[in-house]
Amino acid sequence: MNVQTIMVIGAGQMGSGIAQVCAMANFKVYLHDLKEEYVQKGVASIAAQLSRQVNKGRMTPEDRDGVLDRLLPSTSIQNAAEADLIIEAVVENMDVKTQVFKMLDEMAPEHAILASNTSSLPITEIAAVTKRPEKVIGMHFMNPVPVMKLVEIIRGLQTSDEVYETIESITKKIGKVPVEVQDFPGFISNRILMPMINEAIFALYEGVAEPEAIDEIMKLGMNHPMGPLTLADFIGLDTCLYIMETLHEGFGDDKYRPCPLLRKYVKAGWLGKKTGKGFYTYN
Ligand code: CAA
Ligand code: NAD
Repeated sequence: MNVQTIMVIGAGQMGSGIAQVCAMANFKVYLHDLKEEYVQKGVASIAAQLSRQVNKGRMTPEDRDGVLDRLLPSTSIQNAAEADLIIEAVVENMDVKTQVFKMLDEMAPEHAILASNTSSLPITEIAAVTKRPEKVIGMHFMNPVPVMKLVEIIRGLQTSDEVYETIESITKKIGKVPVEVQDFPGFISNRILMPMINEAIFALYEGVAEPEAIDEIMKLGMNHPMGPLTLADFIGLDTCLYIMETLHEGFGDDKYRPCPLLRKYVKAGWLGKKTGKGFYTYN
């Protein structure tokens, strides 16, 4: 299938990263969010990231301008009518995602593929609200998108082979490595990563060690690039909680129970780096 225009829904930290790598690979990209200010924040973060590449001599100013020219800000969902591929990156909540997919199914051309960057929610359930479940697929990018090589590709129950192959080929075209998984809660990445983060939060909750000590142990002892609490702040504590809830509900096992401290922080609006406060404080 020939994909030329991509639309990214949600201009937060993931959506803006996804739009950036797609525009860098010569696709025309709509970056869409609910409000103009959210879209502009996403565009500004992409422009800053590209300018850093220019300053380091890794990109010419002309190439940067070309990428920004291919990036079209959007607050009208009607732009979906022009897209061959739509990648959804809104909040990790099934009700919000299914509403978005219902709308996209109505607006997008018949041939368009609808992908979700969900971290953990069942692709099959998202696909079921559309009239094109064979064209719905999981395209799970890692944060920060411009740096991380992996895209976990999730086949829903009805995803067609043709759609899988198209997404695999686009993933390679944007310089990423696709890895195929089946549709189970948390897929592979977050089924393994998130219980580790949750356990680190339980260790803090039980007073076993201070946040800095927990992170230092995992960094120096296990060679992780970030400690689990720093990583949780980086991902977003709301996203971490939603993922744990999906695992807990999906597998029904107490080992996935979200730590009460994680719930408390999310209730307080301490969502990590994006709100300036989580396990650590950010300026
Ligand atoms: N956007 C774009 N580029 C970024 C970036 C960002 N947000 N943050 C860092 N970078 C780039 C820097 O520009 C730098 O590039 P150059 O080397 O080309 O100059 C490079 O990454 C390294 O950055 P730093 O030297 O500043 O810092 P670092 O060495 O500590 O690396 C990191 C930063 C790559 C984020 C590293 O700490 C890391 O790999 N952390 C773990 C990330 C991780 O585990 N991601 C997965 C999260 S889970 C997920 O995404 C799935 C989910 O569903 C929740
Ligand atoms: P974020 O909070 O930074 O951004 C979400 C954006 O979606 C916001 O700008 C919000 O305004 C927008 N939005 C919400 N509802 C919308 C709607 N109906 N229509 C259009 N836009 C809407 O969140 P994020 O960290 O970018 O996460 C987005 C998705 O990516 C989630 O499903 C998350 O699980 C997944 N994900 C996150 C990470 C991570 O590390 N943060 C990694 C991989 C996948």
